[in-house]
Amino acid sequence: METKILKPTQVNEAAKLINEGQLVSFPTETVYGLGADATNESAVKQVYQAKGRPSDNPLIVHVADVATVEKYVQPLSDSAKKLMAKFWPGSLTMIFKLKPNALSTAVTGGLDTAAFRCPRNQTTLDLIRISGKPMVGPSANTSGKPSPTTAQHVYHDLHGKIAAIMDDGPTEVGVESTVLDLSTKQPAILRPGAVTKEEIEEIIGVPVDDERHHVGATEVPKAPGMKYKHYAPNAQVYIVDPDDDWQEVNNWIKRNHPTDPIGVMAFSNVLKSVDWNPNVQLISLGENVNDASHNLFRELRDFDENPQYKIIFTQGVEPSGLGEAYMNRLNKSAGQMHFKQL
Ligand code: TXA
Ligand code: MG
Repeated sequence: METKILKPTQVNEAAKLINEGQLVSFPTETVYGLGADATNESAVKQVYQAKGRPSDNPLIVHVADVATVEKYVQPLSDSAKKLMAKFWPGSLTMIFKLKPNALSTAVTGGLDTAAFRCPRNQTTLDLIRISGKPMVGPSANTSGKPSPTTAQHVYHDLHGKIAAIMDDGPTEVGVESTVLDLSTKQPAILRPGAVTKEEIEEIIGVPVDDERHHVGATEVPKAPGMKYKHYAPNAQVYIVDPDDDWQEVNNWIKRNHPTDPIGVMAFSNVLKSVDWNPNVQLISLGENVNDASHNLFRELRDFDENPQYKIIFTQGVEPSGLGEAYMNRLNKSAGQMHFKQL
């Protein structure tokens, strides 16, 4: 199959493909998604195939309005309504108890809940409205690889496997949405993202559990996606923690790999602070954690285009605010490996 690249002005063509049961990648403010009609079971099954995704890992349903959510779920709580009013369209995904048999098990992975999100991208909101269908949308990457932040990333992973990609340029946030479970007594963050625990607590006035995304290897993960290796480039990533000395990183490189190509991804002030060995490829993550989140997946993907790099040192930050989401993704890319362990 020839994968078409569509412009935002071609949204009608994209909507037609969705209605035919085909797969269309769509832009959001976080990362690109892989869209299919959530009410068409065979289309949803193709999403798993195209990504190589395990079929017990449920999908987010993307909507353009609250009324569509209400069609599928048990009556919304006041907290849910307040969160939607504050953060939609935006980077907050919420999990609700479904009405019986409201959505196919291909969407839910057999759970009695489903995740919903209204993305902040006009082209995609138009696509959902014009097709008239809620749209499943996992990140549009090959399962296990960093999520795509450009249409070119999607093309790289999925060309030939999907009908079209709606290209609306690079995404803004760069890491995926916050996943908040509202199906349990205490709201819980299952995946940190751009909307923080503090921002959620401020709106709903009750404490939010954020322990459940720190699952140990032996526990049963609550968000099924947490158990799979994720965001991993071919090179081994090592996290350089805020209390580590970058000069020591350079010394380690000189001692152990004086001539092999080594990657360093850090804030621009760090890159300038060290007289780096010539074999080090310096990649700036920008000035702050917002920039770093925006750039992380793109830079990890770029290293995969250069397989001679076997080791990448990447800057860690304090895990608060957006730093929580950034460190969650970086930890998975690194398989929890830190410079300190070397
Ligand atoms: O920013 C995003 O959320 C992007 C864009 C495209 O919207 N989408 C995205 O989808 O990241 P995906 O499928 O890559 O991640 C969804 C996460 C997975 O970890 C999945 O296990 C979890 O949400 N999830 C979905 N439905 C769930 C449910 N009913 N209960 C628990 N976890 C659920
Ligand atoms: Mg994903």
